Amino acid sequence: MTKISLKKINLLKSQNKGIASLTAYDASFARFIDDCGIDIILVGDSLGEVIQGNKNTHSVTLDEIIYHTKIVCKGIKRAYLISDMPRNTYKTPKQAIKNAGLLIKESGADMVKIECNNKNFNIIKSLAEQNIPVCAHIGLTPQFISKKKQFRKFGVKQTEHNMLVEQAIFIEKIGAKMLIIECVSEKTGLEISSILKIPVIGIGSGKFCDGQILVLYDLLGISFNGIPKFFNKGYFKINNFKNRVKKFIKNSKSK
Ligand code: KIV
Repeated sequence: MTKISLKKINLLKSQNKGIASLTAYDASFARFIDDCGIDIILVGDSLGEVIQGNKNTHSVTLDEIIYHTKIVCKGIKRAYLISDMPRNTYKTPKQAIKNAGLLIKESGADMVKIECNNKNFNIIKSLAEQNIPVCAHIGLTPQFISKKKQFRKFGVKQTEHNMLVEQAIFIEKIGAKMLIIECVSEKTGLEISSILKIPVIGIGSGKFCDGQILVLYDLLGISFNGIPKFFNKGYFKINNFKNRVKKFIKNSKSK
């Protein structure tokens, strides 16, 4: 089985074939979703919530991301592997280049992801200039928010829609190779995906993005802090994981 390259992901966009992405944090799940044919695996800092049981992603460290990416890497034969840069690991261009370089070298990731606000576009530019493949993440950026009420849909108001579209265009111009848009309106997702040449992967951003990404534990219905509102409950109808666990418990108790 040949590994999926960035060129192949770009081809999936240009042929409008859809790009399927999930998070993973360990070798077994990575192998399972890789065997299923997933295109991209992200070792997200969502591990702070779903693996570590914290209320947000803020305390995840670079060492933890390197550790999880290394073990995910063992389970992958095909999927393209992206690894999240944790909060506070890319505050200056110098720090970002050092940490992104370390992450790729130590863990085997193909690309790093950073969450963006208007103040850190220079980080994307610096990483791109060093030929470090970078995926930018805009819209809802959990690393920059601390209150539950800040979790909302972005781009519903025309001014915010325009701002997100402009941000996306700029991010592509300065060298990002992929973009994740989280919790933006369907209209914003459609417009950004249509304008940009790089692949645009949506989470809670409507069906018109080039690809979709989900947190694996949301898909399984077991996420520690609950399942996001945008999540299509339809997935649970085909999820018999809970029944399997219940059956195992019943069998174990009936000697
Ligand atoms: O950390 C993560 O899992 C993410 C996805 C939600 C895109 O950033």
